[in-house]
Amino acid sequence: MQTPITEMFGVEFPIFAFTHCRDVVVAVSKAGGLGVLGAVAHSDESLEVDLQWIKDELGDRPFGVDLIVPAKYAGDQDGGLSLSDVAAMIPAEHQDFLQDLLERYDVPQGDQDTPGWATRSETAPFSASRADQQLEIALAHQPALIVNALGPPPASMISRCHQEGVKVGALAGTKVHAERNVNAGVDFIIAQGAEAGGHTGEIGTMVLIPEIVDAVAPIPVLGAGGIGRGRQMAAAMALGAAGIWCGSVWLTTDEAETHPVVKQKMLKATSADTERSRSLTGKPARMLSTAWSEEWARPDTPDPLGMPLQPILTNQAQQRINRAAHHEGSGAENLATYFVGQIVGSMNKAKPAGQVVMDIIEEFIEATESLARQLDV
Ligand SMILES: Cc1cc2nc3c(=O)[nH]c(=O)nc-3n(C[C@H](O)[C@H](O)[C@H](O)COP(=O)(O)O)c2cc1C
Repeated sequence: MQTPITEMFGVEFPIFAFTHCRDVVVAVSKAGGLGVLGAVAHSDESLEVDLQWIKDELGDRPFGVDLIVPAKYAGDQDGGLSLSDVAAMIPAEHQDFLQDLLERYDVPQGDQDTPGWATRSETAPFSASRADQQLEIALAHQPALIVNALGPPPASMISRCHQEGVKVGALAGTKVHAERNVNAGVDFIIAQGAEAGGHTGEIGTMVLIPEIVDAVAPIPVLGAGGIGRGRQMAAAMALGAAGIWCGSVWLTTDEAETHPVVKQKMLKATSADTERSRSLTGKPARMLSTAWSEEWARPDTPDPLGMPLQPILTNQAQQRINRAAHHEGSGAENLATYFVGQIVGSMNKAKPAGQVVMDIIEEFIEATESLARQLDV
C-alpha cells in the first residue's frame, strides 16, 4: 500500500498496533504493520528490557513507543510532585469506600502485595517528569516514532525526538485538540473517536476523522476508535485517514498478556458491554462494564478522584482483584475489568496478532474492490 503514512515510516501496511505487550509489537511489525509499545505502566528497567528485546527481534523494522503526559494534572502542572505528596491528597472517604468494596466482594488481602505500576516509582504516574525519564530510555533504542496521549506533547519532547530524527504523533479526540497538537509541532495525528478503548472523548470516529483531516491537512491522520477489521479500515481511509491505529483488537490475540479471566469476558462481550468511566484513572476511559465500574457509578458512592489520585488509590486494589479473579464465580471475578472499546463485540476468537493484520488487509481489499465495482456501469 502507499499512503503518506506508509511513506513516512517505510511500512507495508498503515496499520498501527497500540499495545502494552512487547510480543504484540513484534508480531505486528513483522506482519508489515507497526507495533507501538505503551510505556506508561513500565518501570524504567522493564522498559529498557522490553525495548532491547523488540530491537533485537525487529532489527531495522520500525516500532514506536507511546507515553502519556496529560495536559491537565491534579497537584502540579509540571508534574513535579513526588508520589508521597500526591498520595497524601487522597481523602479518607475514598480509601474507606474502596476498602469496604473489596470486603463486600470477598477479595482477599494480599499479604505479598507489591507496589503496582502507579506506585512503583518515586515520581508520580502520568507526570511530565516521569515521561521524561521514559523518553530518554525510548530514544536510546531508536524507535521510528513517539506518541503522546492526553494533551499536546511538551516542546522539550518534540525537540528531543526531532533531534534524534524520530517522528512525533499525538492522540486527538476533538478538532481543537488536533489543531493544538499540530501547533505544538507534531508530525502526524491520531484521530481517536469515542468508540475507543482507554481514555476517550465523546465524538464518534465517523464524525471525527474527516473533521480532523480537513483541519490539519497536509499533516497525515491515522483513524482510531472502533477499528478492528478491514471494512472499518476502508471506512477510515474513505474518511481521509492515511492509516489506522488500533488498540482493543490486540487484547484477545494469542500474544497479549491480558488477564485470562478478562480475556474470556472480552471474547464473550457484545459491543454494548463497555462504558466510559473515571474509576480506574480519574479521566473518562472506556472499559468493560463490570461490578467495578457499576459500584463507582452508584449515586451513593464517592465520585472518582482526578488523575493521578485515582490510579494511585486503585492500583493495588486492581492487583488484588486480578490475583483473586482466577476463582470462577468469585467476587473478584465479578469486579475484574480492563480498558477495551466497543469493537470488543467483534472480538470473538483468539488469534495470532499477525493473523489479525492479514485479516484486516484481506477484508480491506474486498471492501474497496466491492465499492469500486459499484461505480462500474
Ligand atoms: C487497554 C488499552 C490501554 C490503552 N492505553 C493507552 C495509553 O496508555 N496511551 C495511549 O496513547 N492510548 C492508550 N489507549 C488507546 C489506544 O492508543 C487507541 O487509541 C485505542 O485503543 C483505539 O481504539 P480501539 O480501542 O477501538 O482500537 C489504550 C487502549 C486500550 C484498549
